[in-house]
Amino acid sequence: MSENTAELEANKMSENPVIQKIFEKAIKNQEPFLGYEESRRVLAEIGIPFNKTKLVTSEDEAVKVAEEFGFPVVFKVVSPDISHKTEIGGVKVGIQNPEEARAAYKSIMESVKKHKPNARIEGIMVEEQVSGSELFVGVTKDPQFGHMIGFGMGGIFVEVYKDVTFRLIPIGVSDAYEMLQEIRGKKIYEGYRGRPKADPKELVKVLLSVSQFIENYPMVKEMDINPLMVTFDGIKAIDARIILDLEYAEKNKKD
Ligand SMILES: Nc1ncnc2c1ncn2[C@@H]1O[C@H](COP(=O)(O)OP(=O)(O)O)[C@@H](O)[C@H]1O
Ligand SMILES: [Mg+2]
Repeated sequence: MSENTAELEANKMSENPVIQKIFEKAIKNQEPFLGYEESRRVLAEIGIPFNKTKLVTSEDEAVKVAEEFGFPVVFKVVSPDISHKTEIGGVKVGIQNPEEARAAYKSIMESVKKHKPNARIEGIMVEEQVSGSELFVGVTKDPQFGHMIGFGMGGIFVEVYKDVTFRLIPIGVSDAYEMLQEIRGKKIYEGYRGRPKADPKELVKVLLSVSQFIENYPMVKEMDINPLMVTFDGIKAIDARIILDLEYAEKNKKD
């Protein structure tokens, strides 16, 4: 293999203070689900690239930030009590102008109130809208075998296509490259019909970072990055979710 292993190796990060603080708070509050915002912060710390976003708390601010970012933008509800945002009308893509931004803001708030009246709403995430192919990177914990990393075609149809390949964690560089080859839809992120072409090195780096992260933080029970978008500007994570194993964290607490 011609790739430089050292270059691809994920950073050591077992004592990252930002991650530590977020996990400690979750454990203290007995809250296994890290919200959208916190999951993104954790993953940003391990070097996963994200799209540009800003959390706002009013309609006026949402419009102002949307104008700063430049249209089109995406609005998304941010709540620790909502993990599947689209299902309850919490995501609006393709917002083209200030009027649409106001309408989208109102529509998200109304829809969330209707479907999840007791959800704590931290605000609305204003996001740069990116286009490209949607991939998925996830981790699950098998009670017998331990943590597995999954990679495949993503987006809201991940359950429909089930085009995903798995490995036990930890994985090495060659495992990661193999995983990229095992997806039926791989043509799509290899630049099919003018679509953006993913840099395999960048994808491998994401997979290795996730594997290393789980090695360092085995109290993570489940996580997913979905979608991980292949754009003309490189790979960008759009959505993230982390679930902690509180029982494990409690048992393995450092004093
Ligand atoms: N910033 C964005 N740019 C482009 N598409 C987006 C963006 N954010 C969300 N989407 C689209 O909306 C879908 C759902 O958004 P997501 O943040 O994944 O919410 P959830 O999975 O909780 O419903 C994504 O799979 C993607 O197709
Ligand atoms: Mg998602």
